Amino acid sequence: MNAMRSNKIFFGIVGGGPNSWIGHVHRIAARFDNRYTLCAGVFSRNKNISMKFGASLGLDPNRCYSNYVEMALKEAKRKDGIKVVAIMTPPSSHQRIAEKFIEKNINIISDKPFAGDILQAKKLYKKIKSNKKIKYALTHNYSAYPMVREAKKMVELGKIGKVEYLNVEYIQDWSEGEQITSKNAKRILKWKMDKSIVGCSAVLNEIGSHAYHLAIYISGQKAKKIYADIEQISKKIKCDKNARVLMNFDNGAKGQLWTNVLAKGGVYGLRIRVYGSKGSLEWIQNDPNYLKFNPSKGAVILKERDFYFSKFSKKFSRVKYGHPEGYLDAFANIYKEFADFLNNKSKKKFFFPNEDEGLETAKFINACKISSNKKKWVEVK
Ligand SMILES: NC(=O)c1ccc[n+]([C@@H]2O[C@H](COP(=O)([O-])OP(=O)(O)OC[C@H]3O[C@@H](n4cnc5c(N)ncnc54)[C@H](O)[C@@H]3O)[C@@H](O)[C@H]2O)c1
Repeated sequence: MNAMRSNKIFFGIVGGGPNSWIGHVHRIAARFDNRYTLCAGVFSRNKNISMKFGASLGLDPNRCYSNYVEMALKEAKRKDGIKVVAIMTPPSSHQRIAEKFIEKNINIISDKPFAGDILQAKKLYKKIKSNKKIKYALTHNYSAYPMVREAKKMVELGKIGKVEYLNVEYIQDWSEGEQITSKNAKRILKWKMDKSIVGCSAVLNEIGSHAYHLAIYISGQKAKKIYADIEQISKKIKCDKNARVLMNFDNGAKGQLWTNVLAKGGVYGLRIRVYGSKGSLEWIQNDPNYLKFNPSKGAVILKERDFYFSKFSKKFSRVKYGHPEGYLDAFANIYKEFADFLNNKSKKKFFFPNEDEGLETAKFINACKISSNKKKWVEVK
């Protein structure tokens, strides 16, 4: 493929192999706006699986690699080598994989969490900041929904006044309808049970990170002090399943975060409510085209994506108001913005999550672990 003959950004993938749903999502998101061409990848730690999967995607066999180290090295040597790598492997590998590509001046789109734990997060952050040639995006994709951005803008414009209270929750059910026992845990939870793979906390790294990111993204506040109570599946099955966190924010606001991965019937239950001195906002992921705005004086206003009264959301909407738009569209917003950012086409402000938010989220998760162990309030630092 000749880089001179295409305006598209050449990109590669690490992870996201045959059974990875999020791998499928990234590949669609990259194609959504016709801005990227997939040229290379390593889709599994098993070479045969990786090669076979790469071939099924139509990749040149010479660019289906047996591991990410080889991929970074060989792609960096090619004239038409990849400009971006998208990483969608389990959490504790994000840092070491990203670093190999950063060393070769290849830009990064990484899935969350930023890293497996705070030590990895600090190392990765330093590495990103030390290379001025590379740019980094983190797919906390819920922040890319048009009505989430509308909410962020409304808070910035003071439409709800000074933020005073915040409540965010992200609930899932990983149990496949079974009671988790020592016998079935590995089969059902797979690597999510293994701290060396999932990182310091299964529930907080996997979905609590999304909830906290959404809270800081919309409110513009960071937690200063927190008190967390983290629960494991059982004394024998040491996998974090539930976290309740009280948060004091830097502007004096107070908040609560609840996240659980074994709440029976919990289907992608992501919801946020932000209360300010003049009114409140509520957004629910299962109904993403609407944002509820409750001014303290006046009737409840249901704002719809792309509609006249939600002007800011128009910038990030793809489908006309009245028609449903969802998860894939929002995910693709991150790829689209990152392409603009890389091509330096506009001086506009970008809204995709980056390494700063990644590090902030890792600090929060670390504080939660310390707080829950010590059973006391701790600073987020
Ligand atoms: N943003 C979201 O909404 C969202 C949703 C689901 C998962 N995720 C994130 O995506 C990541 C992967 O999660 P998953 O559920 O897809 O996991 P998974 O186990 O289903 O898939 C991981 C894939 O990565 C491959 N892989 C693992 N290590 C590799 C390596 N060193 N080199 C090449 N390939 C490797 C595996 O073979 C597999 O195909 C996690 O960080 C998870 O938190 C994000």
